[in-house]
Amino acid sequence: MDAEKCLIKISKKLDGPIKKYISDEEPVNLIEAARQYPYAGGKRMRPAMVLAAAGAVGGDTSKAMPLAVAIEYIHNFTLVHDDFMDGDEQRRGMKTIHIAYDVPTAILAGDALFAKAFQIIADLDVPDVNMRRILKYVTQAVWDLARGQEMDVNNEGKIVSEDVYLETIRLKTSVLFAAAAAGGALAGGADEKTVKALHGYAMALGLGFQIFDDYLGIAGDSAKTGKSVGNDIRKGKCTVMVTHAFKHIRDPEVLGEFKGILGNTDATEEEVRRARSIMEDAGSIAYGRQLAHEKITEAVSKLDVLAPSEYKEFMTALAEYAIDRSV
Ligand code: IPE
Ligand code: IPE
Ligand code: MG
Ligand code: MG
Repeated sequence: MDAEKCLIKISKKLDGPIKKYISDEEPVNLIEAARQYPYAGGKRMRPAMVLAAAGAVGGDTSKAMPLAVAIEYIHNFTLVHDDFMDGDEQRRGMKTIHIAYDVPTAILAGDALFAKAFQIIADLDVPDVNMRRILKYVTQAVWDLARGQEMDVNNEGKIVSEDVYLETIRLKTSVLFAAAAAGGALAGGADEKTVKALHGYAMALGLGFQIFDDYLGIAGDSAKTGKSVGNDIRKGKCTVMVTHAFKHIRDPEVLGEFKGILGNTDATEEEVRRARSIMEDAGSIAYGRQLAHEKITEAVSKLDVLAPSEYKEFMTALAEYAIDRSV
C-alpha cells in the first residue's frame, strides 16, 4: 500500500471538516492567522491515524472525525508556537505565523486553535466513559508536549545523552501520535488491550518519525519539506546524530571545526554543508537512520493485535512512510 497516496485521499476527506469549525469572526487577522496552517494542510498523519485506528478496531470512522480534526488543530497550535520558539520563518511553504503577522498574533492564534480543539471533541458521539478516557489521553499529550518542548529548548547548545534526546522526542512528538491512535481506537470502541497496543505503536512510530525529521532538517530539501533546512545546526539542536558525532569524530581538528559550526546562528550554507559532511563521515547520519528504522520495526510489531483489514495495512504503511519521505 502506498501511504503517501492514501494520505492524500484521506487529507481530501479531512478538508471539509477541518475548515468547517472556524467561522468568520473579528478580529480578522487573528482568524486568518489561526486558519493558515490547518487550511494549508500538511501531511495530516495524525488525523489519518485517528481515523485508521477507529476503523482498524472495527469502529465507524465517521464517528472519529471530530477527534481527527481536533488532534490536527492541536498539532497546528503546537507548530505555530514551535516556529516562534525555533525562530523558523518557513512552514508548509509559507511564512510562519509570527513572521507573516506578529508574535502576539502567533501566541493567540495558537491558543485559539487549542481551545477550538476541545470544543470539537465535545461533538464526539461516544459513550461518556470513552469520552473521559479520550480527554485524558489528549490533555496528557498536550501537557507532556509542553515538557518535551521545554526540554528541546533547554538542550539547545548542549550535548545531551541519547537517552535524554529520546525522552525529549517521546514527549514533544510521540505523545500526540499516541493520543491520536489510542483516542481513535477508543472512539471506535476498542477493548483495553487493543487501545494499549495502538498507543505503543504510535509511541514508537513517533520516535522513528522525529529521528527521521531531524535527519530531513539536516539533509532534506527545503523546496520539498517547506521548512528551513540547516537551522537545527545553527541553533545547536542536540539531535541523536549530533550526540553520535561528538562520540565518533576522531580527529581533534575536525571536532573543533564541527564545534565551531554547531550553534553558530550566523553559519553560512557552506558551513552547514560542512557540518553535515562531518556527521556523514562519522557515521552519524547512517546511525540516526538506523535507529529510526528500529523504532518503526517496533511500531509495526505492535499491530499484531489487529485483525487483517485495509486500515491495518494503512497503519503499517504509515509507519514505514514516517521514515521514507521527502516532505
Ligand atoms: C512537524 O510535524 C512537527 C514535528 C513533530 C516534526 P509534521 O511533519 O507532521 O508536519 P505537517 O503536519 O506534515 O506539516
Ligand atoms: C516540533 O519539533 C515538535 C512540535 C511542534 C511539538 P521540531 O521543532 O523539531 O519540528 P519542526 O522541524 O519545526 O517541524
Ligand atoms: Mg521547529
Ligand atoms: Mg522545535
